[in-house]
Amino acid sequence: MEELSLHILDLVQNSLRAAATKVEIFIKEDLTRDCFLLEVRDNGRGMPEDFVKEALSPFTTTRTTRRVGLGLSLLDMVARRCGGGVEIDTKLGKGTRVRAVFQHSHWDRAPLGDIKATLVAIIAANPKLSLIYKHRLGGRDFILDTEEIKGILGRDIPLNNMAVLGWLEEYIAQGLAHLYGGEEKDGNPKESG
Ligand SMILES: Nc1ncnc2c1ncn2[C@@H]1O[C@H](COP(=O)(O)OP(=O)(O)OP(=O)(O)O)[C@@H](O)[C@H]1O
Ligand SMILES: [Mg+2]
Repeated sequence: MEELSLHILDLVQNSLRAAATKVEIFIKEDLTRDCFLLEVRDNGRGMPEDFVKEALSPFTTTRTTRRVGLGLSLLDMVARRCGGGVEIDTKLGKGTRVRAVFQHSHWDRAPLGDIKATLVAIIAANPKLSLIYKHRLGGRDFILDTEEIKGILGRDIPLNNMAVLGWLEEYIAQGLAHLYGGEEKDGNPKESG
């Protein structure tokens, strides 16, 4: 069982390989509808429409180093097994949105895993990338926006500065703790809009 954060890492790597400068990760856990939604949007080069179906096939890759691309097809397989699936919206020259849906309570649904480490690793390796992570659970939101943080830091301190990365880790940990904190009381945080 592979953690979903590893799939997120793969999706973001796809976006980066498509020359994206902006990536948005959106997670929505809707316990009322028993739905776990995972979305990655980018402003990369996109795919031709007729390539989309192929992109979900395990034998499709535009990689030159390996002849089999596993990322999207594996995610689709995993999501289908959990009563969902993968949808790809893409426009050449504009960008791509990959959306994966799972039944939240499904026995086979992998946990999100170490999303904090995943985000910090992406930022450390790509300090110039504009990255937004938005995680919604019940009525709560945790949002990390690297542009906002860059604005606070100013031009001279890069996001992959060691002290900044340490702070980011703490910030994400606290944000997630707040997000999941409401869940412990009644198992289903109240929708507050
Ligand atoms: N965000 C994206 N923007 C543009 N093209 C994409 C994007 N995501 C996937 N693709 C295209 O779909 C192909 C299949 O992607 P997939 O993640 O399944 O395999 P891969 O990235 O080639 O290999 P692997 O994930 O195993 O390293 C990619 O090679 C790429 O051509
Ligand atoms: Mg991939």
